[in-house]
Amino acid sequence: MKEEIQKVLADLSELRCQTRKDVEEARIRFLGKKGEVTKLFDEFRTMDKEMKKEFGKTLNDLKQTVQNRIEEFKNQAASEDSTQAAAQDLTMPGDAIALGSRHPVSIVRQEIVDIFRKFGYDVAEGPEIEDDYHVFEALNFPPNHPARDMQDTFFVSAGHPNPLLLRTHTSSVQVRAMETMKLPIRVICPGRVFRNEAISARAHCIFHQVEGLYIDENVTFADLKQAILLFAREMFGPDTEIRMRPSFFPFTEPSAEVDVSCNICHGKGCNICKGTGWLEILGCGMVDPNVLEASGIDSKKYSGFAFGMGLERIAMLKWRVNDLRHYFENDMRFLREFSSAVEV
Ligand code: PHE
Repeated sequence: MKEEIQKVLADLSELRCQTRKDVEEARIRFLGKKGEVTKLFDEFRTMDKEMKKEFGKTLNDLKQTVQNRIEEFKNQAASEDSTQAAAQDLTMPGDAIALGSRHPVSIVRQEIVDIFRKFGYDVAEGPEIEDDYHVFEALNFPPNHPARDMQDTFFVSAGHPNPLLLRTHTSSVQVRAMETMKLPIRVICPGRVFRNEAISARAHCIFHQVEGLYIDENVTFADLKQAILLFAREMFGPDTEIRMRPSFFPFTEPSAEVDVSCNICHGKGCNICKGTGWLEILGCGMVDPNVLEASGIDSKKYSGFAFGMGLERIAMLKWRVNDLRHYFENDMRFLREFSSAVEV
């Protein structure tokens, strides 16, 4: 027993621990279930009385010595850790995280939404896969209107009385608003729309719109004109003028196309406005009474106006983008050009 105790003490004096892991290994080696010291205690238990008397205290002292030594190593390892931490330079600047930027279409949508929010409009959204009723029928499109042709509209399910299709305009959201909202209604409907067009610099099969709808008692064409004028001045600058040209949409009567004065040449004529001094930006009109009635609104009591514009086109005018396809190709060189266009 004596030699064994000597050996443990010799092992202990040779013990070196650097890390917490070393300390834990040493603890197991000496004091663990099968540790050197534990073994001696196991032996002690089988000794006779005399022997126990002789070794009892020595063994307890040994255990204490081992524990103290391991405790010392433990403290050393802990202070080592904290000096290592202090060696790190906490004033070093962090790694810069590269921020993405908003897509030009999102920037324009946000601007338009913010302007109309100021005028008291709510934002409404609806499904991109719609039914014929909400895209055409409720909007007074006659049964054989060309838009209902496969050539112009992507159908999801054909040969059904109310087929599913990809909405060709967000006017469908306005129909849903008329069906569900309480009067008066003032909403704008931003969203993605789909038309079966050959892709070129000037046309794409996917694009984005913001459409708007205002229904109340005594809403007149003068209100429409004023709303559009205010919007145009907020969007394109306080000197902007608008002009309205008669047009046709099945869901509005009368209908108009709106041009804004070209803010590039200020009316003198340039290649963006093709020498006319005007840029076409939206379609609008007074909601056709048939449309109001289809959604259960009394057209004798209520009237309203609606308008709709394409976001890609407005972004094109704003940043002089010359090819619609840029918007969808995700070329980083194109997208990065807009990183300073808004504060993130
Ligand atoms: N829905 C029309 C379009 O997609 C735009 C529009 C909306 C015109 C509202 C008039 C009134 O072209």
